[in-house]
Amino acid sequence: MCGIVGYLGYREPKEILFKGLKRLEYRGYDSAGIALFQEGKIQVKRCLGKLSQLEEVIQEASYHSTPTQNTYIGIGHTRWATHGKPSEKNAHPHQAGPIVLVHNGIIENYALLREKLLSKGHILSSETDSEVVAYLIYDYFKKGLSFEEAVFLAIQELKGSYSLGILCEEEPTKLIAVRNGTPLVVGVGEKENFIASDIPALLEYTKRFMYLNDHEMVIFTPGHLQVKNIEGREIKKEINYINWTQEMVEKGGYQHFMLKEIHEQPQAIINTLQDRVSKDKHALYLKDLKLSEADIKNIRKIFLVACGTAFHASMVGKYLIEEMTRIPCELDLASEFRYRDPIIKKGDLLIITSQSGETADSLAALREAKKRGATVISICNVKGSSIDRESDSTIYTYAGPEIGVASTKAFMTQLTVFNLLAIHLGLTLKTLSLEKATPYVQDLVRLPYYVEEILKQEPNIKKIAQKFYRKKTFLYLGRGLSFPIALEGALKLKEISYINAEGYAAGEMKHGPIALVDDDTPVIILAPQDKYYEKVLSNLEEIKAREGIVIAIGSEGDTHLEKISDYFISIPKKSDNITPLLLTLPVQLIAYYIAVKKGTDVDQPRNLAKSVTVE
Ligand code: F6R
Repeated sequence: MCGIVGYLGYREPKEILFKGLKRLEYRGYDSAGIALFQEGKIQVKRCLGKLSQLEEVIQEASYHSTPTQNTYIGIGHTRWATHGKPSEKNAHPHQAGPIVLVHNGIIENYALLREKLLSKGHILSSETDSEVVAYLIYDYFKKGLSFEEAVFLAIQELKGSYSLGILCEEEPTKLIAVRNGTPLVVGVGEKENFIASDIPALLEYTKRFMYLNDHEMVIFTPGHLQVKNIEGREIKKEINYINWTQEMVEKGGYQHFMLKEIHEQPQAIINTLQDRVSKDKHALYLKDLKLSEADIKNIRKIFLVACGTAFHASMVGKYLIEEMTRIPCELDLASEFRYRDPIIKKGDLLIITSQSGETADSLAALREAKKRGATVISICNVKGSSIDRESDSTIYTYAGPEIGVASTKAFMTQLTVFNLLAIHLGLTLKTLSLEKATPYVQDLVRLPYYVEEILKQEPNIKKIAQKFYRKKTFLYLGRGLSFPIALEGALKLKEISYINAEGYAAGEMKHGPIALVDDDTPVIILAPQDKYYEKVLSNLEEIKAREGIVIAIGSEGDTHLEKISDYFISIPKKSDNITPLLLTLPVQLIAYYIAVKKGTDVDQPRNLAKSVTVE
């Protein structure tokens, strides 16, 4: 979590750094700061709060950078607190003598290092693990080593995860960046270079990026950059061209990124389906899936592992893949899988789903499975991310950059990919007939239009949602493929409106959660006309009998459901397997409009960060 940016080039960097941080604010927003060279001295400005506060602090004209040998340098940071509460003194950049740095990650052995530094007489002023790194570098530098040598030796002592942007007052034309375990990209420009935690921060300035691997260090000097590995050996890196545009990372007239991203879903699905379905709808092309027919036939078991919203998508994936392939699937939270000594081996397939491709637990689960000989494929939105690079193959979701902290369009495209994958595997194994697959594929191709249809009900959904913003508890119920969407609906509401919401398998309700139901509890029931329909209706009656308020999301034309519910939202009646995608849109909009009415910070909800790069 936390976002870092850095610049070395011919332009005054205050604005570049600030704009970069704005684009990274989704990664953390409890405090922020920047550091610039001014007349050969590093000037640090930091503050508690969001970047709007930092903007006030840095806006004075006297705070600006001056060049050394025609070169400007600066670094910036937006924080999501791990060690030490949000405060100005814990905000980055941290300074130790001539060394100034920004850090994203967690230094696990910081307490030990801190003791060692204190015993040497260093006086540390923050509670963070990051300041320890600054002092460790300074401690080496003081001994007469060069800036680069000091950084190199200091990082050998660090345990944990870190991406770092580091300056040294005594070497004012050099910026050093290091990556280990948390994301860091290098933006390559003309006579200027950049670092950032994520690509959107730099899209205004370059479309050319280098992806760093763990234990790699970049040394920026005027007009030049050099990448070295942990042994200090220079390595050549490929430059990748990114086709995301600047508009993609702006709000485009919407009040929030989340709303914009909800509206982008039809296009995101089109992009994800593009070139993957044959014209006659008889074949699917998953070119990025590097599994031959023989590989697919040899799969013994499939593990689906992810966190949060991506976990809910994986649950849909499990249901679909098992149905289409009859291969047993196991579903796991990445944070559990990585530590529970999972029984996974050669011949097993692990599917890791991740929007960012940088989630620490998912990455660790991937590594654990690889170590044990399993084949790993990922479903990922960010090309070049750690999960993408470390997987045997990646099926990309083409959601485009997702900025809102609450995941929406990434989820929808993950569900799209799971449908494609399940059909592809089923057709290959012949456990799914072409006859059965064709109408299903046809529905999949028309999905963007169905989603557009549901979007037309937005004013009605908004009206319903706004009635409930004062409620304290919500229940979301669904069965079968609707169950993961009940979980997702509850998660969306919780994270952006801070209202307690429980997602449950409708059949489980009578085993406990029904005790929550009273005349003040809205219950959102997902009741499409699928094979579970009758059962869900019985659950609905049980709620009505206890005076719960029923908001039903069901198939269009279902007048019975409409009559017995207090509120009714309809979705087109299509193949059961694409129904989860159709149910998703109303639950996203309900959460969004409740949060807006409540007045919470929808795009940057409290305590959260978009990319969870720490355990
Ligand atoms: C919720 C949300 C999170 C993420 C989770 C995994 O709206 O966004 O639950 O889904 O942190 O993130 P990725 O998909 O980047 O691995």
